[in-house]
Amino acid sequence: MRTIIQGGTIVGAGDTVAADVLVEDEKIAAIGKLSGRRRLDDKVIDARGLLVMPGGIDPHTHLDMPFGGTRSTDDFFTGHKAAAFGGTTTHIDFAIQRKGESLIDGIRTWKAKAEGKAVIDYSFHISVADPTDETIAEIPRLNREGVSSIKVFLAYKNVFQMDDTTFLKILGVAGEVGILTLVHAENGDAVALISEKLLAEGKNDMKYHNVAHSAVIEAEAMSRAVDFVEITGSPLYIVHVASGQGLQAVRRGRLKGLPVMAETCSQYLTLTDKAIETGGFEGAKYICSPPPKTAWDQSIIHECLADGTIQTVATDHCPFWFDGTKKGRFAGKELGRSSWAKVPNGVPGIEDRFTVLWHVGVNSGLIGPERFVALASTNAAKIFGLYPRKGTISVGSDADIVLFDPNKKHKISAGTHHMNVDYNVYEGLEVKGWPVQVFVRGRLLVEDGEWLGEAGFGKFISRTEMGRVL
Ligand code: URP
Ligand code: ZN
Ligand code: ZN
Repeated sequence: MRTIIQGGTIVGAGDTVAADVLVEDEKIAAIGKLSGRRRLDDKVIDARGLLVMPGGIDPHTHLDMPFGGTRSTDDFFTGHKAAAFGGTTTHIDFAIQRKGESLIDGIRTWKAKAEGKAVIDYSFHISVADPTDETIAEIPRLNREGVSSIKVFLAYKNVFQMDDTTFLKILGVAGEVGILTLVHAENGDAVALISEKLLAEGKNDMKYHNVAHSAVIEAEAMSRAVDFVEITGSPLYIVHVASGQGLQAVRRGRLKGLPVMAETCSQYLTLTDKAIETGGFEGAKYICSPPPKTAWDQSIIHECLADGTIQTVATDHCPFWFDGTKKGRFAGKELGRSSWAKVPNGVPGIEDRFTVLWHVGVNSGLIGPERFVALASTNAAKIFGLYPRKGTISVGSDADIVLFDPNKKHKISAGTHHMNVDYNVYEGLEVKGWPVQVFVRGRLLVEDGEWLGEAGFGKFISRTEMGRVL
């Protein structure tokens, strides 16, 4: 089966070129002026006026995850379908070790969740919940399961949080054996102490989530994490960064030549602390950890997208029903009606990342289309060992391709999105730029808003190596 994408403009992380793309079965077979190579039975797609970009890679999602007294609402079918509509063709989800269980068992549990449901390609990081010596001893064997990254938590006291000694140990061992450590950097002790005080004072409104998870609490943990990189020499990737002050620590580390990288998420590009602070219980929709911070923090994030301090834009997609009491649903944000402290933490976004980043980044002139491709796809592929199979329009790469119409407008809304959740954090946002055709390994999954995908098509992508530090 051959497809020629003709007349489009290929945008890569390093260059832009007007050229045709030949897709043969699952791979990109040729790039250039291909009209002379056309066969009678080739499918030809007219891409004039469209940008031809590598499919988006979301390196941070939580599908079908038990969390906060309930579970996330998207599974590996609904989440994948939504991702594909939004131009994301690969994601890396967080498998979670349970207490008393091995890391390998955690990975296998998540592999089983995706089996038969996946539509786009996927891979896993493993999150540590039980940081014993046995767990640490497993780290050198993770790549046998196709996993080359491990997430640790400085937050979520009494659930996931680990102490500094354990963090140092894991960072050291992982670095030695070529496993990339990811860290959720908020000071969990400070969050717990402040939360206790707020709750004792009867401060239950949604806005107090922001007080308990303030910018300095994130920045302190980020700064400590950067120093731990200096102590161990191991590479570190800081997930879901929302604090401007924290990013100053990343800048400091990178200026020193330390192998530290930072990911932000699309919600931090448009939302601020005001989203949680206004509208009473409506604020629960935006509760996540870390929460969006002030307009100043947001401006630093924007700056860091452009200057290279931030390497990737993810979603941390972790959707919960706003009203889980409706028929056919399960518990959601309403668990926290009496207090912000009981609201399941997380926001939806897997469908909107590509277009929101284009809108905030490219349409506003903050970054150019090539930097957009780096942030939305190529850098994640390089960092997480998927490159050049994924993240690039190159001969021999998987034909994961987005045909993007930079002039097509769309109003984001829960009424039209495909995520299995009853609200959208970007509700009403009018974006310009839209993925009109989305291919995964040569298979067209979405065409002009029509779903052509099929459960079970998505493949687990084994990552046996760490990739590179960017
Ligand atoms: O609020 C969030 N971020 N929920 C998902 C879990 C995590 O910490 O990434
Ligand atoms: Zn986290
Ligand atoms: Zn997360």
